[in-house]
Amino acid sequence: MAFKSYLQWAAVIAASVQLGAAQTYTSCNPLEETCKADTGLNQYQLNTDFTTGSSAFKRWNTTAGTVESTSLGAKFTIAEQGDAPTIESDFYIFFGYVEIKMRAANGTGIISTAVMESDDLDEIDWEQISTYDSSIETDYFGKGNTTSYDRDTKVSVSSPEETFHSYAVNWTSSKIDWLLDGQVVRTLDYAAAVDGTNFPQTPMRVKIGIWAGGDPSNSEGTIEWAGGQTDYTTGPFSMYVESVNIINYNPAQSYKYTDKTGSYTSIKASNGTTPTNLIGPSTSSNSTARSSALASAKLSSSAAAATSANASPSSSTAMSTSAASSYFSSLFGIVLAAFVAGMVRL
Ligand SMILES: *[C@@H]1O[C@H](CO)[C@@H](O)[C@H](O)[C@H]1NC(C)=O
Ligand SMILES: *[C@@H]1O[C@H](CO)[C@@H](O)[C@H](O)[C@H]1NC(C)=O
Ligand SMILES: *[C@@H]1O[C@H](CO)[C@@H](O)[C@H](O)[C@H]1NC(C)=O
Ligand SMILES: *[C@@H]1O[C@H](CO)[C@@H](O)[C@H](O)[C@H]1NC(C)=O
Ligand SMILES: *[C@@H]1O[C@H](CO)[C@@H](O)[C@H](O)[C@H]1NC(C)=O
Ligand SMILES: *[C@@H]1O[C@H](CO)[C@@H](O)[C@H](O)[C@H]1NC(C)=O
Repeated sequence: MAFKSYLQWAAVIAASVQLGAAQTYTSCNPLEETCKADTGLNQYQLNTDFTTGSSAFKRWNTTAGTVESTSLGAKFTIAEQGDAPTIESDFYIFFGYVEIKMRAANGTGIISTAVMESDDLDEIDWEQISTYDSSIETDYFGKGNTTSYDRDTKVSVSSPEETFHSYAVNWTSSKIDWLLDGQVVRTLDYAAAVDGTNFPQTPMRVKIGIWAGGDPSNSEGTIEWAGGQTDYTTGPFSMYVESVNIINYNPAQSYKYTDKTGSYTSIKASNGTTPTNLIGPSTSSNSTARSSALASAKLSSSAAAATSANASPSSSTAMSTSAASSYFSSLFGIVLAAFVAGMVRL
């Protein structure tokens, strides 16, 4: 039953992603076609303090809805059906550290998300489901592979909807650490992600937003995952983001996919201004990633694989219901639905 509804949901989302994609300049999937290079963050570190007013949004594009500047930070509000305010960095990073201080939204079925995502749909997620006031989920996807939904974990956190916590991701070519308030709560090694195939490894943007997983128009599976239907009359629901600290391990003016493998060794970083960081691939200005460094990164990652996994994947019952946890897919679905609903014709 649930499985069937998941398939239906996935088909709808797949269609809407393509439709949505066709209308945005970000749509180009480098594994399918030749795309223009991604704009890189050409500095090692960028700290955004959203409590300082609207100037804090300089490097952030609001891609849906309205995001307010308040003394608590950037405020993302769902007041009615179809609201899904979202910002994204106007640059990409190529391996790095991203730390977000946020207070998740209250309510039922509201998903507060901080994700990193690449053009070929690698994704690293933090997602807080408002229905559960003592946990947050981590997740990841590689190359848009959604054949299974058993990659998410739940992490305990105290009152995420009343208290600001720091949610971070340390993303390197050999492993990804998720950190809650500075403590590593999950590690994903390169080799553990189907020998690297599903390992997020292409230049990513940072996207922050909220959406209603419990919207009555969503599939049963999505609503179940979101912990029930959203009752908009009990809103509005707001998430606050105090700050975002970003470190780019490979600062560069641009990143270009040189083939259709989606492998980090195929990414060419151009005009990098900062010395090579040992964690990621080479930043040397116009070369593709340095393969010797990469090879050793892979070796150490498989050696470390046995000792990793601080958090265990949630049970397989989540398989059909956590379909919505690809933020990208879900948000596109919602934005498109709202778009279609408001238009006489496309
Ligand atoms: C951000 O917005 C600016 C101005 O509209 C646009 O030129 C730029 O391409 C956008 N960048 C991203 C990454 O969305
Ligand atoms: C997609 O991921 C699954 C595991 O979740 C894996 O078995 C499968 O081989 C992957 N597919 C591709 C095309 O990489
Ligand atoms: C969140 O909702 C709960 C239950 O309705 C309520 O007790 C709590 O005060 C709310 N918290 C905030 C920050 O609004
Ligand atoms: C990120 O991971 C690298 C490699 O494990 C480590 O050297 C570095 O200290 C980590 N950074 C943070 C902020 O955790
Ligand atoms: C590198 O920088 C030069 C000089 O600013 C510029 O002309 C060139 O287009 C840049 N190359 C890339 C790939 O960004
Ligand atoms: C590429 O980088 C090398 C060394 O970093 C430099 O010598 C060479 O001139 C660069 N080539 C171009 C086209 O910028």
